[in-house]
Amino acid sequence: MTTATAPERASLRSQRLNQVTHAPHSELDALVKAHAPFSSRERFARFVVAQYLFQAELQPLYRDPALIALFPDLAERCRAEQAKLDLADLGCNVPAPLPGALHGPSQAEALGWIFVSEGSKLGAAFLIKRAQALQLSDTFGARHLGEPAGGRAEGWKQFTRTLDALALSPEEDTAAERAAVAAFQRFTELLKHAYATDAALA
Ligand code: HEM
Repeated sequence: MTTATAPERASLRSQRLNQVTHAPHSELDALVKAHAPFSSRERFARFVVAQYLFQAELQPLYRDPALIALFPDLAERCRAEQAKLDLADLGCNVPAPLPGALHGPSQAEALGWIFVSEGSKLGAAFLIKRAQALQLSDTFGARHLGEPAGGRAEGWKQFTRTLDALALSPEEDTAAERAAVAAFQRFTELLKHAYATDAALA
């Protein structure tokens, strides 16, 4: 006899985070595409506004000594500066922060947010190829989508290896998973804001 069972929980933390963010990722991917970011530099600039705001909100985590103790290269992984330079390349002002940014997360929550930010570098491999059609690259306008030093796959492998090896309580794991979902919700909010305030930010 066979019984229907819920999908098994993956054994690795990074895989579990992948599982719980699968649906929000698909929704966000669809939303990004619905805004046609590669139809013009102006539309791409709106996407960069969202990326910049997201990265700027996460900057305190990338600079947090306690997190750097776990991930020694964390500070170099942040892309707020690249996104800011991209905005300048694209002739955009640095946008004002949007209320509702992450504030004072627990370490477990911080891990969930950083997981999403680091994971977004994987999709960036596809996005930067599309940006090339707008004559943008990792040295002009699409710097924040560029390949990290040492390679995209290797950077992700190193990050997840460390993440997976951390000792967390079941409660902390749950907090990290909720935080990863919250990170997708926040990016979605920032993306909607960036495209809604088109004229005001240009
Ligand atoms: C703010 C967070 C994120 C954003 C805005 C984002 C955006 C996107 C977009 C728009 C694509 C589609 C690229 C294309 O088809 O042209 C994509 C693909 C992809 N993303 Fe993300 N992503 C995010 C987070 C993540 C995370 C956390 C992971 C992994 C843990 C991830 C892994 C991937 C992978 C592997 C692809 C390649 C195609 C696929 O498997 O769907 N992304 N992403």
